[in-house]
Amino acid sequence: MEKSKVLIVGGTGYIGRRIVKASLAQGHPTYVLMRPDIGLAVDKIQMILSFKAAGARVVEASLDDHRSLVDAVKQVDVVVSAMSGYQLSRQLKVVDAIKEAGNIKRFLPSEYGIDPARMEHALAPGRITFDEKMKIRRAIEEANIPHTYVSAGCFAAYFAPNLSQLGTLLPPKEKVQVYGDGNVKVAFMDEDDVGTYAIKTIDDPRTLNKTVYLRPSENILTQMELIAKWEKLSGKFLEKIHIPNDEFLASMEGAELFHQEAVGHFHHIFYEGCLTNFDIGDGAEEASLLYPEVQYTRMDEYMKPYL
Ligand SMILES: NC(=O)c1ccc[n+]([C@@H]2O[C@H](COP(=O)([O-])OP(=O)(O)OC[C@H]3O[C@@H](n4cnc5c(N)ncnc54)[C@H](OP(=O)(O)O)[C@@H]3O)[C@@H](O)[C@H]2O)c1
Repeated sequence: MEKSKVLIVGGTGYIGRRIVKASLAQGHPTYVLMRPDIGLAVDKIQMILSFKAAGARVVEASLDDHRSLVDAVKQVDVVVSAMSGYQLSRQLKVVDAIKEAGNIKRFLPSEYGIDPARMEHALAPGRITFDEKMKIRRAIEEANIPHTYVSAGCFAAYFAPNLSQLGTLLPPKEKVQVYGDGNVKVAFMDEDDVGTYAIKTIDDPRTLNKTVYLRPSENILTQMELIAKWEKLSGKFLEKIHIPNDEFLASMEGAELFHQEAVGHFHHIFYEGCLTNFDIGDGAEEASLLYPEVQYTRMDEYMKPYL
């Protein structure tokens, strides 16, 4: 089967750049949207040039110029969005363009995290992410756009080497804050694998109009299991400080908005188990079962460079 042509929106972003690389690696004709407001963002320009050197085509279009977006969308079969968590509602413009273009066989909106459909009860202010993702889902479904929602679990760089400590990305040296008993199961994902699995879904009839969860069995770990892996790698024992849920939630009070959002998300992930506390039923698939050929990265391997 001929590989679909893919347009990536948000392709210079943290996860977007990995999706671009995965698309090229899997042999898809790959188009990267370049916005005119790129301005002096020299790193983005250089990244786009590196994509071009690797075989991607650069498409100039603005989210504020509907016509240019429709023209961009018409060049491809599939659109993958990796727009920032703070710009999610701007994807409505992409949805409008896809609706008008009428040729798109699959759209992946920017998701790649906790499944927003399971977060009706989520805490403010962090719930805004889920509400916005749901708003995009509703627009997609109302327009009958063929889609796949990729629910990715925790991006490892933000959650694994720091042993899921807030406010740092580096491993703790002496003590580690443990959420409750630390025995809630969490899904950790190497970000390159997120890109690989996302692109795997786009031409797959099994994932049409479904949610695909990234929950490879060996990356489903409790925080205590993650800590044990790091202790084994580093040969160093860490003092564990267990934080009860109510004490953790109280740390939101008076904190900056960003911290409040993070505490809410950590609460859902580490106390409630929102990434793993349900079975993957009808209307959904699990990526590592669909694509057993993918050699996903295990967390001890991921953490080794941090030694
Ligand atoms: N599971 C996890 O642990 C986790 C962690 C972080 C994020 N996420 C999710 O992953 C997705 C992508 O997040 P990210 O961290 O990769 O995003 P990001 O790097 O912050 O940004 C992605 C892209 O969004 C576009 N963008 C940013 N500001 C814009 C603006 N003002 N106007 C138009 N476009 C703008 C840019 O696209 P250009 O390339 O066009 O410049 C940027 O490269 C989100 O849905 C987020 O919720 C999940």
